[in-house]
Amino acid sequence: MALERTLSIIKPDAVAKNVIGEIYSRFEKAGLKVAAAKMKQLSRAEAEGFYAVHRERPFFNALVEFMISGPVMIQVLEGEGAVLKNRELMGATNPKEAAAGTIRADFADSIDANAVHGSDAAETAAVEIAYFFPSTDVYAR
Ligand code: PPS
Repeated sequence: MALERTLSIIKPDAVAKNVIGEIYSRFEKAGLKVAAAKMKQLSRAEAEGFYAVHRERPFFNALVEFMISGPVMIQVLEGEGAVLKNRELMGATNPKEAAAGTIRADFADSIDANAVHGSDAAETAAVEIAYFFPSTDVYAR
């Protein structure tokens, strides 16, 4: 498996629940290393830009409102097969369908407030990482 990077966001609901450390612990126990991190209050324009691919979806406005409802914790995770590994740790988009022991099963309340984001492919990850971090702020681990 290749060494990869992926973009992870701990969303406002999980930040408000004070489980940043719990979620980081899951990343670390799975062999993912934090290569960059920052807490940030997204502007509407930043959230709309990040989710631009979903602009035509019925949930787009609600998603943007949710993502700007409080600060998020944004990190780059690095490790073998990091994209898939992070998706497995997160669980299904809808927490009702998320496997037991996943982040969304344990911390998410609904499909609208689902605790975490993770890039869905290596190519998307490169775009998403560059959206939030200049390359000089991402550290090889
Ligand atoms: S899809 O249908 O495969 O495109 O959905 P997905 O890529 O998993 O999710 C798109 C992002 O929108 C968030 N979101 C919702 N998805 C589906 N239905 C509803 N109602 C909804 N509300 C919000 C979902 O969590 C995905 O965001 P990220 O940040 O990528 O997890």
